[in-house]
Amino acid sequence: MAQKSDQSNEVELHLEHVDKAHISHELFHPDPSISAHAHVSSLKQYQELHHRSLVNPVGFWTELAKEFYWKRHWSSTALSCWNFDRRAGKISIGWFTDAKTNICYNVLDYQIKKKNAGDRVAYYWEGNDPDDSRVVTYAELLKEVCKFANVLKAQGVKRGDRVAIYMPMVIELVVAMLGCARIGAVHSVVFGGFSADSLADRMFDATSEILITADGVFRGTKLINLKSIADSAVAKCKDKGFEVKRLIVYKNLGDKLTAHLDADTLAGDKSPPSKRVRQLSWDSHIDVWWHEVMSTASDECEPVWVNAEEPLFMLYTSGSTGKPKGVVHTSGGYLVYTATTFKYSFDYHPEDIFWCTADIGWITGHSYITYGPLANAATSVMFEGVPTYPGPDRFWAIVAKYRVSKFYTAPTAIRALRKFGDDHVKKHDISCLKVIGTVGEPINPDAWHWYYEVVGNKKCSIPDTYWQTETGGHMITPLPGATPMKAGSAGFPFFGVVPILVDKQGEELRGETEGYLCIKQPWPGIMRTVYGDHERFEQIYFDRFKGYYFTGDGAYRDKDGYYWITGRADDVINVSGHRIGTAEVESALVAHPAVVEAAVVGKPDDEKGEVTYCFVTLHDGAVFNDALVEDLKEQVRLKIGRFAAPHVIQNTPALPKTRSGKIMRRILRRVVRNDHDLGDVSTLADSSVIEQLFANRPEQL
Ligand code: WT7
Repeated sequence: MAQKSDQSNEVELHLEHVDKAHISHELFHPDPSISAHAHVSSLKQYQELHHRSLVNPVGFWTELAKEFYWKRHWSSTALSCWNFDRRAGKISIGWFTDAKTNICYNVLDYQIKKKNAGDRVAYYWEGNDPDDSRVVTYAELLKEVCKFANVLKAQGVKRGDRVAIYMPMVIELVVAMLGCARIGAVHSVVFGGFSADSLADRMFDATSEILITADGVFRGTKLINLKSIADSAVAKCKDKGFEVKRLIVYKNLGDKLTAHLDADTLAGDKSPPSKRVRQLSWDSHIDVWWHEVMSTASDECEPVWVNAEEPLFMLYTSGSTGKPKGVVHTSGGYLVYTATTFKYSFDYHPEDIFWCTADIGWITGHSYITYGPLANAATSVMFEGVPTYPGPDRFWAIVAKYRVSKFYTAPTAIRALRKFGDDHVKKHDISCLKVIGTVGEPINPDAWHWYYEVVGNKKCSIPDTYWQTETGGHMITPLPGATPMKAGSAGFPFFGVVPILVDKQGEELRGETEGYLCIKQPWPGIMRTVYGDHERFEQIYFDRFKGYYFTGDGAYRDKDGYYWITGRADDVINVSGHRIGTAEVESALVAHPAVVEAAVVGKPDDEKGEVTYCFVTLHDGAVFNDALVEDLKEQVRLKIGRFAAPHVIQNTPALPKTRSGKIMRRILRRVVRNDHDLGDVSTLADSSVIEQLFANRPEQL
């Protein structure tokens, strides 16, 4: 139901079971050419390192932390600030707590100085159009970042202030993040696919008085009018009584935007002339152009030395309630953890060209486009466009163009591109690839094999990296030179990570088993709090299974100790690697005047992993037809964003409920799969709804 309490404890957990008949234990060994030069070159070496990281976590991580610059070092007592057990008081996590550092200084100035990396390319930027590209070195990036840090200061931004960023995948997005980090401001990046409502909610929750955005962006042939979405978010904040003071607007499209808007108008825009958008809207009281404010800014800026545990950024993510939570990460631990996971999970070496295809609007981009690679002085490709534009070979054309050796993408992209056939891959010389990672959802063995054979030519290692917004970096993954892979398994835990599987009562299960995936002890990259609501943080992640961090996922551990993630056990669904809270979709649906009640569950999907399946009950007199379905989809697009639009909407006179009025989602999940084996239905208040639910399934499913 849309309105429910904030307690994750009330969510009924459900475990998906591994289909043991369909998983294979065949081992795919790393190619000797990779193992020979790898940082970790055998399973035995991995096991030793992992063991060492657990018996002496402080020693292990402080050794790695010495790679970086600390204005003030931590004292020995500063490393014991951990508590994963609510029974022992407040959950508090800190690494290097009394140290001072600056992550921006570490990933730019310090890399330039220590590794002489000034002339090294930080990013090969590839635009949506194949003839649009840029090359940015570390020295150039540093100058831009300093300029932008000075711009922020001139705008009155101070240490600790939250700066919202709503931008396309352009270099300036990285500049904006690092500019914040340089002066101790907290960046809050909002993915460009979120709607004005979502952007407004996030700015309001974080009281971000300043927003960095762009005029617009083309993704494929589709124009995303970022500035006008930002404008309407600002207006929505105003309605809530919150005044956004400044918009800094990067000119990404310029004339291309106005030309497009004009063409659109000519091409039969039916709206009255007064309503037509012909040009960018501009409010000179709050809007300033990025290039104008940057033109007079100095390119030198002393970093602000912050405490290792001061917030670096927040990133909103969805959970079991209707309200997204601002996941807070801090500087010291996050720096060390992203740098280390980047180096080991991708087996990074200085001659590598790395490409992570994610959007920086999600954690994958924060950790493996911005911070992790830069902390290693690595060279990355950054891509503005989509995998299928101008053709479905775009990824492979880019890999060939920049000689990418380490590639990181999502199973949903792999499945989508596979459908276009092998020729699109084979027509490009991508023999440069060595490591091809995946992230975001479990990868099905079929897709894994295609990736391994066709993209990787049976030579590449596949780190299937399991992690979350909350974990900051990889938690479970094969290491490219060390771990024999199984198709569809995330392999073994990263250094410092102790995964355990527990039953419903929170009892740890041993050996080969299935259960709820928890983590037993802190690692440096774990989130520290939910912005503005530490108690919610404790409730969500630490209340359900006492003494452990609960991931929200279920998993199977096989006889060899390999982990197989089976997906979310809570009310979160994963559509094309996008995390969507079903409660958020439900709130959006019930906000429509025709809807009384809504319940949303995930439906397995061959390409997208899962899609949103919505059950709605209508008010008396409301008619369920195609127009209403379209309306409801639009409603969700407007409230959340276009990536969350429902795939199936089914009308139902009633929802299956317990006598106390709780919706039985377990039953809805069965209906969606057309599985009549419902298990125990004795608590169901009115069993007649079941027949109707099955009878009303849309025919094509
Ligand atoms: C959820 C976290 C971590 C970056 C992208 C998503 C699922 C993530 C895997 C994987 C199986 C995975 C989990 C997790 N997930 N990676 N390799 N295998 N499942 O970040 O939006 O915070 O989502 O994504 O369900 O809980 P996120």
